[in-house]
Amino acid sequence: MISIMLIAGNWKMNYGLKELYDFSNTFKSFEPSKDIDLCIIPPFPIIKEAKHIFQETKINVGAQCCHYKLEGSFTGDVSPKLLSEIGCDYVITGHSERRSNHFETNAYVKNTVLSLINKNITPIICVGETQEEKRKGNTFNFIKKQVSESVPIINDALIVVAYEPIWAIGSGNIPSEEEIEKIHNLIREELNSIPYLKVIYGGSVNEKNCKEIFSIPSVEGALIGGASLNFKEFLAIYNSGVKYLNSFKR
Ligand code: 13P
Repeated sequence: MISIMLIAGNWKMNYGLKELYDFSNTFKSFEPSKDIDLCIIPPFPIIKEAKHIFQETKINVGAQCCHYKLEGSFTGDVSPKLLSEIGCDYVITGHSERRSNHFETNAYVKNTVLSLINKNITPIICVGETQEEKRKGNTFNFIKKQVSESVPIINDALIVVAYEPIWAIGSGNIPSEEEIEKIHNLIREELNSIPYLKVIYGGSVNEKNCKEIFSIPSVEGALIGGASLNFKEFLAIYNSGVKYLNSFKR
């Protein structure tokens, strides 16, 4: 069954085994909701250990990127096949930091998604405009193109698209509720032939603003960088999502 929301913490190039065990301690009190999946996305070398320590829990583990090929002469790259073998649940592809520093183009991202699906891993596909595109009033067209070129139409597996405006990442600035709603709806319209689609928001999500972000109707979760490194805060964000969804049940 597909949950309603996904809350994922992208550790980026931070932390190691010590912090993984700290995380595990903080999340001893974690009460998983069937409505919201939780995922941590640590650096590659500790994914296997993370899978091991969370095997009896509902904590999912993801990777921050991977190659689209299943094997071959690609020094330093990691294959979706290997990630599947070690039990990886999610993989981010097309993060803006990978697009700008590691040449992950729209075509690369699309091919990676196809390989991930083939290996039963859920892709988290990032899209988002630069400050410059926003300034030019070009956000709508930019996202439309990025979505159509990066996301393959898949009808039998869950696809997660994360709207992460580049100018919002790590800056403390977030788009207005109306802007987020408009872009999420655009993404949904562009991909309306994908039956299992989740559109989540990323960029400066924290404990203070998460309630407001979760209450935007088209937001189905969050991809969190900085605030996911503070484990108590990350847990509080998860619990805020649970509280929000529970408020509809009464
Ligand atoms: P911040 O939450 O630090 O802005 O990072 C967002 C992000 O890039 C998650 O992938």
